Order: sequence, then C-alpha cells, then structure tokens
Amino acid sequence: MFAFFNKNDPATDENVELDAQRIPAHVAIIMDGNGRWAKSRHLPRVAGHKEGMNTVKKITIAASDLGVKVLTLYAFSTENWKRPTDEVNYLMQLPVSFFDTFVPDLVKHNVRVQVMGYTDQLPAKTQKAVRDAVADTQACDGMVLNFALNYGSRAEMVTGIQAIAQQVQAGKLTVDQIDERTVDDALMTSALGQYHDPDLLIRTSGEERISNFLLWQIAYSELVFTDVKWPDFTATTLKACIADFQHRDRRFGGLSDHK
Ligand code: IPE
Ligand code: IPE
Ligand code: MG
Repeated sequence: MFAFFNKNDPATDENVELDAQRIPAHVAIIMDGNGRWAKSRHLPRVAGHKEGMNTVKKITIAASDLGVKVLTLYAFSTENWKRPTDEVNYLMQLPVSFFDTFVPDLVKHNVRVQVMGYTDQLPAKTQKAVRDAVADTQACDGMVLNFALNYGSRAEMVTGIQAIAQQVQAGKLTVDQIDERTVDDALMTSALGQYHDPDLLIRTSGEERISNFLLWQIAYSELVFTDVKWPDFTATTLKACIADFQHRDRRFGGLSDHK
C-alpha cells in the first residue's frame, strides 16, 4: 500500500516506497516560510533563515542519496531586495557561513555547486564565497546543487531576449532560426545541459504561487505545494513529494502509456 501525499500532513511516514527508476532528475524548490517559522516561535525572522540553512544541508544530502541529478534551490529573488536592510544583509552573509562549513561535505558526497542569477550585484564577500565553492567542487561529478541567487525569471528572460537580439543584429542568426532551443540556450538554466527544465517543482509554506521562478522552464514540471515551512522540511517530506510526483501521469500534451 502506498500512502498518497497529503499537503496538509507533514509526511511522517518514513517508510514511503519510491520507484528508484523514476526519481525526478531535476528537482527545484522554492524554499519558503522561514520568517513565519521564526515568528511562530517568537524568534526574529533571521532565526528562520539560519534554521533554513540547516535544512538546505540535510536536503542536499538526501536528494543526492536518492539519485537526483540537479537540485535547484531558490535562495534569493531579484525582488527580495525590497526587504529590510538587516534581513537582506543577513541573507547575503548566509552563503558565506553555509559554504564555510559545508564544502567538505559537498565534496564527500561528490556534489558540484553551480549558481544562477545576477551574482555581480551581490556583496563582494558573498560573490567570493560562491566563487570559491564552485571552484572547490568543480571536480565533483555527482549531483549538481544549483543555487538561484539574485535570480528572477522575468529578468532572466529579458537578458536572454537581449542576447538573441544581439545575435540577430550581428548577423549570426536570422529571425526564422529562432526556436525553442534558441530560447533554452539563452537562459541561465542552459548551464544545466540536458537537465535545464525541472521535472518536479516544490514550494513549501502553503503559498501556491511561482514568485518569478523559472517561468519558461516549468512549462511541463509537476508542481507540489506543501504546507510544511522550509525549516521543518525533512528528507521524509522530500520523499513524500517525490512519491506524489511518481503518482502523476505526465502526458506532455499527448496520451498516457496506459490509454
Ligand atoms: C524564504 O522564507 C526565504 C527567502 C525568501 C529568502 P521567507 O523569508 O520568505 O519566509 P516567509 O514567507 O516570510 O514566512
Ligand atoms: C520566493 O519567496 C523567493 C525565495 C524563496 C527565494 P518570497 O517569500 O520572496 O515570495 P512572495 O513574496 O511570497 O511571493
Ligand atoms: Mg516568503
């Protein structure tokens, strides 16, 4: 008997059975609810971000152990600059503490770090932490841990459209030659090769919106929304989300195998 995933249930069934042949290759997560997690404990919002960082560590290892090929984590959006300066500063310092303590574990698990977003706008120390982590894990050929940092899908599309228009202007491409592949290649996810589109997109904390994340790339992703706030998200919750994914019938506009 398999237990169907219930989004209101924090998924305590540790024995959920997964089909090892159908693990989603690219899992993307909108890690949400840190602030509300802290508030419910009468703690400052940043305490939620700190605990959320520990969740990132646990979920990275869990995803890698399950055989996920790419784990994309939405860590900071192009709109998150609207938050109070103290909170933004804390979020900018988090990658520094995260990589300081976690790179040896990443290497041990053969996990390679990648980053997508407008990283040139981050504080110098954040940029350095990210650059060092990418360099230190460069030889790892297991799961890719892809952080979306100062990422926004609309900005990404504008940048991509500008790059395509420049190729046309330079005579390297004709308008007729622009196809879906051209767009795929112009987006930041092109660095993920064959895994550019998420198979499974998870959002925690009960919010059911996309908040400017991977708009083009999720055209046929399976979406899972869970009420669990990110600091409470565990390897078991991840398995429950993947179990839900495995019960979906992905048709891509066609008909299912068992018509
Ligand atoms: C997600 O948690 C982390 C970031 C967006 C950086 P939030 O900080 O958005 O937490 P809530 O949504 O306010 O609870
Ligand atoms: C999305 O969460 C961004 C990240 C998780 C980094 P937000 O908390 O910023 O999204 P909204 O404001 O609720 O849409
Ligand atoms: Mg939020």
